[in-house]
Amino acid sequence: MEENKKYYVTTPIYYPSGDFHVGTCYCTLMADTLARYKRLRGYDVFFMTGTDEHGQKIEEKAKARGITPKEYVDEFVAKAKDLWKVLDISYDKYMRTTDEYHVKAVQQIFEKLLAKGDIYKGEYKGLYCTPCESFWTETQLVDGKCPDCGREVKEVKEESYFFKLSKYKDRLLQYYEEHPEFLEPEKRKNEMVKNFFDKGLEDLCVTRTTIDWGIRVISDPKHTVYVWLDALTNYITALGYTTDQDEMMKKYWPADLHLVGKEIFRFHSIIWPAILMALDLPLPKKVFGHGWLVVNGNKISKSFGNYKDPRIYIRDTSVDALRYYLIKEITFGDDGNFSEDLFIEKTNSDLSNDLGNLVSRVTAMVEKYNQGIVVKNDSLPLEDIDKDLINSAEEMIPNFEKYMDDLKTNEAIAEIWKLISKANKYIDLSTPWVLAKEENKDRLNQVLYNLVETIRIVAVPLQCFFIETPSKIMNQIGVTKEEMTWESAKTFGVLKDGTKVSKGEILFPRIDKTEELFKVEDEVVEETQEEERKGIITIDELDKVELKVGQIKEVEKVAKSKKLYKLQVDVGEKELRTIVSGLVPYYKEEELLGKQVVVVTNLQPAKLCGVESNGMLLAAGDYDVVKLLVLDNNNGILENGSNIH
Ligand code: MSP
Repeated sequence: MEENKKYYVTTPIYYPSGDFHVGTCYCTLMADTLARYKRLRGYDVFFMTGTDEHGQKIEEKAKARGITPKEYVDEFVAKAKDLWKVLDISYDKYMRTTDEYHVKAVQQIFEKLLAKGDIYKGEYKGLYCTPCESFWTETQLVDGKCPDCGREVKEVKEESYFFKLSKYKDRLLQYYEEHPEFLEPEKRKNEMVKNFFDKGLEDLCVTRTTIDWGIRVISDPKHTVYVWLDALTNYITALGYTTDQDEMMKKYWPADLHLVGKEIFRFHSIIWPAILMALDLPLPKKVFGHGWLVVNGNKISKSFGNYKDPRIYIRDTSVDALRYYLIKEITFGDDGNFSEDLFIEKTNSDLSNDLGNLVSRVTAMVEKYNQGIVVKNDSLPLEDIDKDLINSAEEMIPNFEKYMDDLKTNEAIAEIWKLISKANKYIDLSTPWVLAKEENKDRLNQVLYNLVETIRIVAVPLQCFFIETPSKIMNQIGVTKEEMTWESAKTFGVLKDGTKVSKGEILFPRIDKTEELFKVEDEVVEETQEEERKGIITIDELDKVELKVGQIKEVEKVAKSKKLYKLQVDVGEKELRTIVSGLVPYYKEEELLGKQVVVVTNLQPAKLCGVESNGMLLAAGDYDVVKLLVLDNNNGILENGSNIH
């Protein structure tokens, strides 16, 4: 193996939230395909995936389930690893940001940047999107909402450390300019530069004091490190960066390819390179931002009924069929649709008909006409149709390589199918059944050899993305691993004289569209319901919540807040209750005065912007629309303080 033939490829490390679906598997499948391709070409490959396990969202999810964040993430990691096993993802390392080596390395990276002055202490005033774990400036918001997910952002103000991102603005732009291959596809680079650089690059808040579930800053432990600084550095901490055991770092860094979804492209193309510049480390060779998948034309969501565990597709077809569709039918870099109908159609046409039939027809003919023995006999001159087939076979691998190296994976696969279809046509043109009838043995052997040899050449690149099919083909056409190497597929004629072929099982049985196809099994549904039941409370628990009728008697804005009202509410007690409520964006003061509302009266008091709140008003809605639950007083008025059951 040549010294510099190494290939370090990564997927994003996944958030332990929700279940996997075809969309979330896509990136990992693509990375796996590229890793397999490079291995076949003799590269020393290091393929890494993993999980991004810290942050507020995880803390909240674990709390809602009544388990610790570590228990929560451990559960997710076990599920993820199970799925990667089914999809046969050939990762070399599964990294977790809760691993001790990572935690220590992040702490050291932080201190290093602090000592260098690239991280400094300040005060953060800004807007935070909790679901995306992203900070935004006013100018970046779209209609006042998070530009990534469209949800409401929260105003936060706290002592924070900042990374001097602004310092790297010019260097970054210069780097993009000088390394046009660094960010791909081009359209994403342009979009990113336009959206983020044109509006100015502000320093990045890199710690929080209000989030517990994160990596502590050693020199100031009330701070935890911002999840993205924690997450992005995984690409080097996994190689032993900051430790004495950094042989991997020396061998594999810089990464050859970071594969990421389009919404996290900016983190990898701005923040990550700037951090690396600050650490005086070389930049990854390429960051590629792929598109998003929808299923049956809709966003993948439980409410559309298209949020399915990818194993359901594998159950009804095969892992190779699923991999084929995702890699071939989605243009890498663009958004794409996983259409169940098209998936069936493509499995039947490309896999059962084109590839499956080629293999079964050819192996059947060799069995029938020559007792399964392939004869290599170079004495007969080649006919034009032979030359055409041989040329196409010898051109396939160089073309395939060119497309794969350019990350045009679907075009690369198309090259294999061009050869498959040529071989199928060759059968029709050479008519082996006529040659058999005419007892033209030499020509028949020549034709059958050409066909089996073409199948061997086809099977070599199939190893980049298929799991089961290449070895099935190898067994059927009787070739060894040595006859399936990358280099061997560049030359026509490697197949040995006397190779024994045996017709085996059908490679891709046809799929019929039935009611049962891709149906989510009842047990799975029940399991989900069981999961959901975990959040259920008993009637006794509900009884603990004291709900009373209250009337709003006084309303005033809380001075330090844009959202909060300080209300005086009559809940039938001797004195009015002070309740702080975030209703400013939704109600004017006069709209609230005098209203009879539903009040939780036994809630532990809490201080909000310096005002102690003793209770809570119930309201419905989320972010955009919030409606207070107000008593309908049409047929009589209830006394303030009445119990609500
Ligand atoms: N934790 C971060 C990544 C940190 S990397 C230093 C994260 N995790 S994620 O779990 O939310 O997303 C993981 C990947 O799944 C992302 O690349 C994202 O784009 C991808 N996808 C999520 N839904 C997808 C589709 N529907 N289609 C294609 N990819 C999708 O972001």
